[in-house]
Amino acid sequence: MSIQRGGFSSRLGFILAAAGSAVGLGNIWKFPFEVGQGGGAAFVVMYLVFCFVLCFPVLVAEIAIGRKTQLNPVGAFKALGYKNWAIVGYLGLASGVLILSFYNVVAAWAFGYFVEILMGHFDIGQRFSEFTKDWITVGSYSVLFMIGTAFVVSRGVSGGIERAAKILMPTLFVMIIALILYALTLPNAMDGIRFYLVPDFSQITGKVVYSALGQAFFSLSLGMGALITYGSYVSKKDNIVTAAASITLLDVGVATLAGFMIFPFVFSQGIETDGGPGLIFVTLPGIFESLGATLGVIVGALFFLLLSFAAFTSTISLLEVPTAYMVDEKKMKRKKATWIVAIFIFLVGIPSMLSVGAVDGLTHFVTLAGAGEKNFMDFIGLIASDTFLPLGGFMIAVFTAYVWKKENFNLEMANGDENHRRSWLQSYVDFAIGYICPVLLGSIFIVTVLDNFLGIKILTMLFG
Ligand code: PHE
Repeated sequence: MSIQRGGFSSRLGFILAAAGSAVGLGNIWKFPFEVGQGGGAAFVVMYLVFCFVLCFPVLVAEIAIGRKTQLNPVGAFKALGYKNWAIVGYLGLASGVLILSFYNVVAAWAFGYFVEILMGHFDIGQRFSEFTKDWITVGSYSVLFMIGTAFVVSRGVSGGIERAAKILMPTLFVMIIALILYALTLPNAMDGIRFYLVPDFSQITGKVVYSALGQAFFSLSLGMGALITYGSYVSKKDNIVTAAASITLLDVGVATLAGFMIFPFVFSQGIETDGGPGLIFVTLPGIFESLGATLGVIVGALFFLLLSFAAFTSTISLLEVPTAYMVDEKKMKRKKATWIVAIFIFLVGIPSMLSVGAVDGLTHFVTLAGAGEKNFMDFIGLIASDTFLPLGGFMIAVFTAYVWKKENFNLEMANGDENHRRSWLQSYVDFAIGYICPVLLGSIFIVTVLDNFLGIKILTMLFG
């Protein structure tokens, strides 16, 4: 393989890098606040069903397309011989650019919190909105974050991404478990657990289904070709079905654990669950303070540092997608491609950065019929992660089953071995990619988009 593309040095390296992409702010920042806004356990149930039933097969399909073609999402569809389907790749590029543009800002918040807690400023939780409004500080951290991301991506995947993921992911995991144990000792912790685990299905509306589906895709880094791109670096000998299963389990596992950590904290402090994007930033500093000055600084700073690292392995994968496109399709040198794309995305992210308090017109950006008022950043999230990703996933499923064809997909899953005996997982993927994914993804997509953007409530009309 050429130096421009590179490859993962081992199967574990790929799983860790892909899990590093999947596990990020989506699990620890976005998942809890979406659960909080979506009414608790009912959202969790839907999210889990979507991840395992609908997303897992698409995840295998993305990796298969990537490994088969060894290309970026746009090039991959072209290489399989279907030029028109490159539109899915372009949609993926657009999603990647838009998602990274705001993701980088939230990553900057996380890093900023690391610095604040390190200085013993536990009151930063109460000052969350002042903090996000201060665009000079947030802007500086986000410049730093983007530079760091570009630096790793410019050196190629196996050099940077793999090594970073190997050390940091397990540390974060242990830290969350420790915080859960502490959370469970707090007063009212059980109310939090009840909110998180006992579903009230009357909470389910079109808006909630929409965000649960979007969350499943976002959290798995799915639907925009990030895994086509990472799949292009996977060895022809790896079992991609079990690799995809491990990635799904790890990602869902971390998100689920984050919920067990946050909701006892939220209820023990008497904070409203539907606070939105500020939820963990408002809740956690007070919890760290309750550990005492020294321990609080150590645990709190370490937590936000690890959260920043988790975000970092995700921003790397987000930047990798358009960079691989420039390298493969535009024949640009990796270094140059990386920096051009990074600067572009940073500029695209400026309105998002200014939309959380700094500029009024961006803070009160639009009011949608179903989803309500959104600032610019949330609006971009709605378009890119909740709309483009499931749409991309739907198209990838249709493409895999009916254009590329199941025989070819199955052969790729079997590493080219025609006599391979199928596992039950492979049989499920084969079935789901042709029937369950297109039908359910397609219909949920239409219903929820109408609901959110136009306020047409099909679910309510059908089920009352
Ligand atoms: N999955 C990442 C997270 O949960 C975000 C992401 C989305 C990364 C899409 C890459 C592609 O934080």
